[in-house]
Amino acid sequence: MSDVTLTTLLKSKQRGEKITMLTCYDATFAATACVAGIEILLIGDSLGMVLQGHDSTLPVTVADMAYHTACVKRGNKGALILCDLPFMSAATLEQTYQSCTTLMQAGAHMVKLEGGAWLADSVRLLAERGIPSCVHMGLTPQSVNVFGGYKVQGRGDAQAQKMLEDALALEQAGAALLLLECVPSELAARISRAVQIPVIGIGAGRDTDGQVLVMHDMLGLSLSGRTPKFVRNFMQGQSSIADAISLYARSVKDQSFPAAEHEFSA
Ligand code: KIV
Repeated sequence: MSDVTLTTLLKSKQRGEKITMLTCYDATFAATACVAGIEILLIGDSLGMVLQGHDSTLPVTVADMAYHTACVKRGNKGALILCDLPFMSAATLEQTYQSCTTLMQAGAHMVKLEGGAWLADSVRLLAERGIPSCVHMGLTPQSVNVFGGYKVQGRGDAQAQKMLEDALALEQAGAALLLLECVPSELAARISRAVQIPVIGIGAGRDTDGQVLVMHDMLGLSLSGRTPKFVRNFMQGQSSIADAISLYARSVKDQSFPAAEHEFSA
């Protein structure tokens, strides 16, 4: 695989070719995922739950993210490395610059922030300073205490309209990528059509420009024993993790994943 860049991703969207993203936290899985066809490796702050065993992503620090980003960078074979800004690491502009410096110097090519249009200034200022950003919208796990649980977002006309307007404002501000989590499929499709930048979905239906899953989920591993509706266990019928990740990548590309059973309605 030749190096994945923002230009590559934009061209994929323009050609209607789906983009593959998977969370990744270490060098061996990074190398395995790249060989299997994953184009974006996300060092998600989900590591707080799947690696560290916390019940939310809130305890994760910038130092944790930098450590895992450096591990992933060592195993990477051409994927774009996207790293989450963890809880309250971008609460002020000064903090945002400091956190992004640490993560980019650890090996990230792009950072991900959770929120909406209120992030437009940060997104613009980061882009001006050479840091591409992805904005994670919909169910943003760092706000679980505001939402009162991990619930579908963007249901109802007012919420849907607001999310669409936020997406347009963030694109205008210079966001390189959007990520929609647990959003009704029709809304995710509308947003994906409305913006020129690629939109990656998780629990957002089949019409986004690409898909992401938490690696442990798609390998059928769960601490809680609960599997979210939008997850498919790709280990089923496979004899190795490499084969399961490869099947996931192929299923995103040929659009057999996600299927109707993984979607949320408005
Ligand atoms: O932290 C993470 O793994 C994420 C995914 C759920 C998209 O943000």
